[in-house]
Parts: sequence; structure tokens; C-alpha cells
Amino acid sequence: MTTKVILDCDTGCDDTLAILYAALHPEIELLAIGAVWGNVPVATAAVNSAHTVAMVGRSDIPVASGTAGPLLRGPENFGYHVHGIDGQGNVGDPSFVATLVEESAADQIIRLALEHPGEIELIAVGPFTNLAVALALRPDLPSLLRGVTIMGGAALAPGNRTPVAEANIIHDPEAAAAVFAAPWRLRMVGLDVTMRTLMTEAQRQQLLDGGTISAYAGRVMRFYMDYFTENAFSERLSCIHDVLAVAIGVGTLIPTLAPTVNAWVDTGNGPGRGQTICDLRGRYMGFPDQEGAHCQVVLESDPLFAQAVVDLLVAAGDSAIPLGAAA
Ligand code: RIB
Ligand code: CA
Repeated sequence: MTTKVILDCDTGCDDTLAILYAALHPEIELLAIGAVWGNVPVATAAVNSAHTVAMVGRSDIPVASGTAGPLLRGPENFGYHVHGIDGQGNVGDPSFVATLVEESAADQIIRLALEHPGEIELIAVGPFTNLAVALALRPDLPSLLRGVTIMGGAALAPGNRTPVAEANIIHDPEAAAAVFAAPWRLRMVGLDVTMRTLMTEAQRQQLLDGGTISAYAGRVMRFYMDYFTENAFSERLSCIHDVLAVAIGVGTLIPTLAPTVNAWVDTGNGPGRGQTICDLRGRYMGFPDQEGAHCQVVLESDPLFAQAVVDLLVAAGDSAIPLGAAA
């Protein structure tokens, strides 16, 4: 049994792990990738996504370019200090030439949803601008998808861009608000679990010791781990945010606590801008049903999940393309 997936990403370091996991996992049928601005400009995200699927011999997976900035304002700061100037921890292959499809990421979502009604899990792990555009173009999109899973937000955990806002939400709060308001089954995989599900330096070494696919991932993760070591954990540990959303989205990782509750995004201009407000008041009563709730907020899952990612990548062997300067 496989799950059809469209992945929408701002391909930096952890997005690369997410694409590799989705392309390699036998229970996932990765139909297409959409690129969005965020960690890097959209053009860089698209090239990185195309490079990643080419490595695993899956250049047949279409990569579509999407939005270059948020709905309401010009592009904000990219995440070069977290993901490197190339979004690949500064070890990407600058000689790689990507072939992108002509349709936009939003049009690709709509077309595939119409071709496979009710079958596709849309998994978005960058700012949600492409999803908001698709929703505006096709308000009945929710009825055409199996569901939507996002990496984004923070229910009880602190933010990572402001005291309360997570990066993918604060990049485009208006888009995120539209995604939270749409009547689809939404799964929020936020900082509550992604800051607790970490890759160790020993696991990064396992990647480096594998074939050229996992070794590439291990090199990409070095810069990312440097960032988290200095700014979050004070030891050699790294988040792997986006791959968690893929695994939870398709069910290869089952959360241990994920109530379905009402949830909103703060689009005001005060200090709460970009906050995900999740109604968790039912916590002490086992989270009774809430009228109209359609957002499953993941609060707990296996903190040791990174090893499954490492094992999958190590088993993938060698790259289908030369890795050029990155080898
Ligand atoms: O806050 C973490 C998220 O922001 C991840 O998706 C990361 O890739 C960046 O987009
Ligand atoms: Ca991302």
C-alpha cells in the first residue's frame, strides 16, 4: 500500500532529507514536488529539489517552480545562515542543471488533485504561499485531496523566529491563515515535536560512511548541525524538521499524542504575528471533540525517529548522477 504525495518545499538542508525519504520510501509514491521561497530563493529551492531526485535516479518526478515571496509583502530574509548560501550547507553542486516543468507549483497541485481525487496527501514544509495560491484558484481543493500535512507552527513550544512564531508560518502568516481556515484535514507537525526529534553527530557519521547518496546528505547536514549546535543545543545535534512531516503525513511514523482541535494563525502586526493558536484546553479531559475542528496538532512522537531516516538513506547506495564538486 503506497500513499500518493505532493511535496511542497523551500529546499534547504532538512527539506533535502524530506525529499530523499519521500523518494526512497517504499510506502510513498512521490508524484511531484513544488518549490517555494523560504530558506532560499524559489529558483534555488527548485534546483536543489531537482538535484535531490536526480541523485536517487528519479528525475521523472516533476519539479515545478512556485511563488517567490509572501502574499502581501516582498521577499523577506532567506535562511542562508541556517542552510548555507546554496541551501545545501555550501556543499551543493553548482554545475548541476535542473529541468523544471512549465506549470506553476500551484497549478501542478490542482491538476494532480483533479487527476487523483481524494488520494493525495499534500505535504508542505516551507512557507505556505503556493498552497494559498492553489486554494484561491480552486476553493474546492480541500474536497479533492486526502489531506494536508505541514511542517510548521508551535502549539506549546516556543517559536524559532520570534518568541512565538515558527519560520514557515512567520514567512507568510496570511498564507498560513488561509491553510488553517480551509476545510481539509490538516495535520500540523510543528516545533513541539521537531525540536525533540534530533539527529546526532554519530548518525551523521553513519550517513557519511554509507553510499554516495547518504554521504552527500551527511555533508549537507554538517552546516545545519553547526547552526543548531551553536544556537539551540550546545552539543552536536540537529533538527530534521521536514522529514518528520513526511513520515507523519503518510503514516510511517505514528504520533503518540495528536489531538484534533481548532487552530488559527495570528495575522496581526503585534508580537504575536505568526503564532499558531491551538485550542488545547481539553488537555486534562483527554481532548474531547471540538465543533468544527479539523486540525490535528502533533504534540508527541518517537524522538528517536532519525535512525529510520539514516537507515533508509544508507540503504540507497550510490548516486545516479555524478556529484561533481560536491563529491
Ligand atoms: O522552522 C523549520 C522550518 O523552516 C523547516 O521547514 C525549515 O526547512 C525551514 O523551512
Ligand atoms: Ca523547509
